[in-house]
Amino acid sequence: MPHKTVAHSTGQPWSVGSWQGRPAAQQPTYPDTEALRSALAQLARLPPLVTSWEIETLKQHLADAALGRRFLLQGGDCSESFADCESNAITSKLKILLQMSLVLVQGAKKPVLRVGRFAGQYAKPRSTDTETRVGTTLPCYRGDMINCPGYTLEERTPNPHLLLRAYERSALTLNFIRSLTHGGFADPHHPECWELGFVSKSPLAAEYTRMVQSIGESLRFVETLTGNPIPEINRVEFFTSHEGLHLLYEQAQTRAVPRREGYYDLSTHFPWIGERTRALGGAHVEFFRGLANPVAVKIGPTITPDELVALAGVLNPRNEPGRLTLIHRFGAAQVEQCLPPLVAAIRRKQQQVIWCCDPLHGNTETTRDGIKTRRFANILGELEASFHILRKCGAHLGGVHFELTGENVTECVGGASGVTEADLARDYRSQLDPRLNYEQAMELALHLAHLMARNLG
Ligand code: PEP
Ligand code: CO
Repeated sequence: MPHKTVAHSTGQPWSVGSWQGRPAAQQPTYPDTEALRSALAQLARLPPLVTSWEIETLKQHLADAALGRRFLLQGGDCSESFADCESNAITSKLKILLQMSLVLVQGAKKPVLRVGRFAGQYAKPRSTDTETRVGTTLPCYRGDMINCPGYTLEERTPNPHLLLRAYERSALTLNFIRSLTHGGFADPHHPECWELGFVSKSPLAAEYTRMVQSIGESLRFVETLTGNPIPEINRVEFFTSHEGLHLLYEQAQTRAVPRREGYYDLSTHFPWIGERTRALGGAHVEFFRGLANPVAVKIGPTITPDELVALAGVLNPRNEPGRLTLIHRFGAAQVEQCLPPLVAAIRRKQQQVIWCCDPLHGNTETTRDGIKTRRFANILGELEASFHILRKCGAHLGGVHFELTGENVTECVGGASGVTEADLARDYRSQLDPRLNYEQAMELALHLAHLMARNLG
């Protein structure tokens, strides 16, 4: 059945399938086309994972962030795995994001919008299509939604059934997160619920504990004063995001909804386009431009000011605040050179965007032992530099995007707890990019909170 074509503010008509006429980078090739057709038909019938109501609420919050009245905290794994869809891994991620948001609220003196990089982060871009090990060449692992990491032909062959497993795992994760965040787990009267086992051993524990105590005291003070518990404070909003990489999967969950205009990608609240798939004439930009969701795009050192202005024009044709987030990831060594001309170009055209710093992806390096890692000093360096550059250029840092985990892994080096290169072998669990561990993530949040507090106004 042909897809309904709708008018678009750029004047170029759009439909949920119009991306299929453009070059689509990073898509798997499925040998079993009949199984693919059947999986996509099921996905298109299954209920959505999120609703347009939630998406519209998020868009309003993001509009606040664009105007400097709210701060976006986005974080989670580089890539989720099906095996990690279990209660501990999910609660740990939620806990670390809640703790970080508490610290950031204290520093920024404004509400923090929490967006998980989870409940759907199952597809990964790769730099090559194949991998060769001792004479055999197999397709690359592309995330649990597409194939399996094991090194056999069977495991590496893209399998359409995994699309359904990914949808189900996303639903299970979301269900648990919604119950936790609506059921009192996120109540700031009881931040002890968010404590992760090893927090008391951390050198940062004292500062965090002091902060939590003072929040508890303030809450009790206001409640005593007014004689009433503060309504709604025991619930927090939590939104989901993932890289909208696998376009057939995203398309199957993209729908028109009653009484609203446009098409919503209902697999997540806030999809983003990756650095490798942001080509102006490419399929991802074509698909994203027609979505009603707020969207983000990752930008790295190769983007030029003209390209960025064109990209922002296509992705945010009505120039709405909150519609478009630019997640910049240049690396500590390049941010000073790359960021200012881009900010200047966007400001010159008066384009509405949120500047959101991802200080992880531009700082990836390989150790002498061949292990992929990131140095805490570089991560913090890029974050601080971005904050100052944006201020100097008349813009502001609207948010941050981190790869992190609530577990005590050793994947990034440095930080107050002193993870060294020798420690990397001890507890390195990521299949793909190295993540900040709990203490490193908290330390980064504390630094950022101090930075924002020193520069209020
Ligand atoms: C990622 O976010 O895991 C990723 C691949 O990032 P980027 O698109 O910025 O390289
Ligand atoms: Co990554």
